[in-house]
Amino acid sequence: MEDTVAKVLSLIKRRGLVFPSSEIYGGFGGFFDFGPLGAELKNNIKKTWWRSMVQKRDDVVGLDSSIIMSPRIWEASGHTTEFSDPLAECKACHKRFRADHLMEKLRDAGELKKLGFTDEETKDTADINQMAKVLASAKCPDCGGELAAPRKFNLMFRTFVGPVEDNASLAYLRPETAQGIFASYKNILDTQRVKLPFGIGQVGKAFRNEITPGNFIFRSREFEQMEMEYFVKPGDDEKAFEYWTKERMRWYIEDLGLKKEKLRFRPHRTDELAHYAKDCVDVQYNFPWGWDEIEGIANRRDFDLGRHQQHSGTDLKYFDETDKTSYIPYVIEPSCGVERLFFAVLFDAFDEVQGGRTQTTEATKEAETVLRLPKNLAPVKVGILPLLKNKPELVKKAKEVRDLVRECFNCQYDEVGSIGRRYRRLDEVGAPYAVTIDFDSLQNNDVTLRDRDTMTQERVKITELPDLLRKKLGC
Ligand code: GAP
Repeated sequence: MEDTVAKVLSLIKRRGLVFPSSEIYGGFGGFFDFGPLGAELKNNIKKTWWRSMVQKRDDVVGLDSSIIMSPRIWEASGHTTEFSDPLAECKACHKRFRADHLMEKLRDAGELKKLGFTDEETKDTADINQMAKVLASAKCPDCGGELAAPRKFNLMFRTFVGPVEDNASLAYLRPETAQGIFASYKNILDTQRVKLPFGIGQVGKAFRNEITPGNFIFRSREFEQMEMEYFVKPGDDEKAFEYWTKERMRWYIEDLGLKKEKLRFRPHRTDELAHYAKDCVDVQYNFPWGWDEIEGIANRRDFDLGRHQQHSGTDLKYFDETDKTSYIPYVIEPSCGVERLFFAVLFDAFDEVQGGRTQTTEATKEAETVLRLPKNLAPVKVGILPLLKNKPELVKKAKEVRDLVRECFNCQYDEVGSIGRRYRRLDEVGAPYAVTIDFDSLQNNDVTLRDRDTMTQERVKITELPDLLRKKLGC
């Protein structure tokens, strides 16, 4: 397992997909930068979601709300009081831990049993008092020091709006994009011709001051969410919840191209439901370290709109013309994180072929990496390769082909090294096609088109190349 993680991380680093943020200053825990290819891959994931969840549906519209909003929103939603994790600090080395994670770790390692606690006593990681009792007997896993009683730590980043830093100017960076949707719900209702059931989708940054960010980009402090709030008549919520769980799984398999056997649902137990939820199911991906959450699908009831109506004094009820009643709609919310999908997509696509794939030469080569990315996600769609870089006529022709193809697709022009090496470089970043321009191209106006997965090559007229690529890349 560590092998696959190490290999994928090495690829990410080698090809500059993701960098630690502020690396020249030693990094900044839980923040990352996405390099040129990483930014392309991330954009393609977001595009795939937006196409499917917003543009290709009659019943969903899009939104791009502000990151910093009135702090009253977070009071109404319950985030100022409820959005916290239990934090345990070592009195000796001052290392901080997620108290619930620490308790789970100690329980799974059998340590708590040794200290005399029963499974029943260590089951509930939501009860801070019980956790305090258990952790009082445990020791810091790093230095063996005594642990202070766990306390609740609010995960929202705080900032100040305007020149004076006081309570009146206090504001928060949004910890979820969802509240921007609830805050704009009435504007959408009043300006768009939407009728229940309908949804509002949004892709954007979210910020959480995680106590222990980790697993590289899996748990970070700044990340992007793709969320959709689907408003329904109360009573229709359970059916809609069932519909969206199925639809989201379909999206992961058919649109994002993840392997079916690597995906599963994990329903939440009642005692772990968020403060707003009536029901929740996670979509999990089987990462090399085990099954882990990539999306949560929740039935948020009328909690958010109800609270915003109460706190803002604005009527947020929906008038239903079909039966002339007014009510606050229920909400079904599929919510996923772009970085987690980015990671899942890379693990899913990663393939290493020992000895290389070419059968025509003796298999004495090093291992070859092929990123078998779905074509819609590939950061580079087509590589453009002149056979030789020191022949001006070949270079000129290759640049003409590049200009023609990049009108429609992201291309990578590469003239450095042998053709074999350049194919390897393209395979490693998952480019589905490579186009080689050789001396025959100058005579016949044609090129060689190579397929990443089958490695088959075909001769194609340059004038026919854009249409053929459009057909093959599917857009
Ligand atoms: N609006 C509901 C909500 O925010 P959540 O389960 O807290 O629910 C939804 O988050 C998704 O956002 C998660 O399934 C995960 O993909 C992503 N996510 C949450 N916290 C994250 C973090 N610290 N780093 C990266 N992604 C995160």
